[in-house]
Amino acid sequence: MNILLLGSGGREHALAWKLAQSSLLHGGGTLYAAPGNPGIAAHATLVNLDVTDHAAAIAFCEAQRIGLVVVGPEAPLVDGLADSLRGAGFAVFGPSKLAAQLEGSKGFTKDLCARADIPTAGYQRVTSRDGALAALDAFGIPVVIKADGLAAGKGVTVAMTRAEADEAVDDIFAGRFGSAGAEAVIEEFLEGEEASFFALTDGATIVPLASAQDHKRVGDGDTGPNTGGMGAYSPARVLTPELEGEAMVRIVAPTVKAMADAGMPYSGVLYAGLMLTRDGPKLIEYNARFGDPECQVLMMRLESDLGELLLACAENRLAAIEPPRFSDDPALTVVMAAQGYPGTPQKGGRIDGIPAAEAAGARVFHAGTALGIDGVLTASGGRVLNVTARGRTVAEAQAAAYAAVDAITAPELFCRRDIGWREVERESATPA
Ligand code: AMP
Ligand code: GLY
Repeated sequence: MNILLLGSGGREHALAWKLAQSSLLHGGGTLYAAPGNPGIAAHATLVNLDVTDHAAAIAFCEAQRIGLVVVGPEAPLVDGLADSLRGAGFAVFGPSKLAAQLEGSKGFTKDLCARADIPTAGYQRVTSRDGALAALDAFGIPVVIKADGLAAGKGVTVAMTRAEADEAVDDIFAGRFGSAGAEAVIEEFLEGEEASFFALTDGATIVPLASAQDHKRVGDGDTGPNTGGMGAYSPARVLTPELEGEAMVRIVAPTVKAMADAGMPYSGVLYAGLMLTRDGPKLIEYNARFGDPECQVLMMRLESDLGELLLACAENRLAAIEPPRFSDDPALTVVMAAQGYPGTPQKGGRIDGIPAAEAAGARVFHAGTALGIDGVLTASGGRVLNVTARGRTVAEAQAAAYAAVDAITAPELFCRRDIGWREVERESATPA
């Protein structure tokens, strides 16, 4: 069958790489990607498609007889693209507009947690600056302030002082996040280590995938401003099988049930951002898609046929399939970003040496690259490359990933040098 993958980042390059190996494409199927990127072009036919134009997307799927649409990023989901395509009869991997509210509205998710007794930070929804300032009086410091809607990862402030909290409230209600900030959530500060947990669900059956740990701050030692993620590794062993079981039973399963009960069954990958607190795992947030760069390490470990898994999810057949298999070997990815990121990135820097970086088995996923007519690859976004490797331990995967990073010549890119540090420290404290 033919498959259409939507998106253009490192997450989608990793998905394209795995989808290209799927048996779904046997017998002459084509993998299309829109818009894709130069890395994805090695695995898929790139097409220009405006995904905000649902009629155009449907027309493309009809013309190319697409058997499965895989939606990578959140924006088209929150915009209802999956509903439009499903309405036209296509199998889509990704939740409906209503179900994507789990990512698209923090207040929606907090209210659902409250109704279903799902462990999460105490909160108050506010719709005005005065309401927010009054709520801040009721919470101690530190406190967390979140714009309600999608804000590209920039709508959350963990305020360590009241002045910072006031400033975050002012920013939101002065319109810094547009309509995403018409409403906000004030939240209790949770203490612990963070881990991400990914599960597939078709609205009824839940299939656990794997865990990962992201590195959100731009600088070594988790310093500096928040980013979309500077690197990740999987599995996150800090989420032990017991804690994962608890997260499934107390967080993920009640969420899927509450969504079905509310008449908006969730179908797709559910990405639970967890805080492992002294009182057990608590939900920080949901995302309605794979993490970026967490997807890259998940795909590096996945041994099952990704196309079969995503199609089974889209067709409500998860109960009937074999559970996905992942390599026990950890994977680790290092994000190479353009100078200036997460502010304004400096575009255009030349990139050489990817074949050398991949020679020893690492994979370099493209996140923000452009290929000139002269064949020269350059940086075209904030996060540019995801240099990904596996090893028998996280320390080995880390060494392999950084050896590959060092084989790349890209003077205008930078990366953190300590991705995986928490787990590497734990490994050296308890040798395997
Ligand atoms: P989010 O966009 O909701 O993932 O938030 C971004 C980051 O802010 C999270 O990854 C956490 O590091 C932090 N954060 C969010 N909510 C809380 C909370 N209630 N307590 C402590 N840290 C939080
Ligand atoms: N890496 C964090 C995210 O994808 O939301």
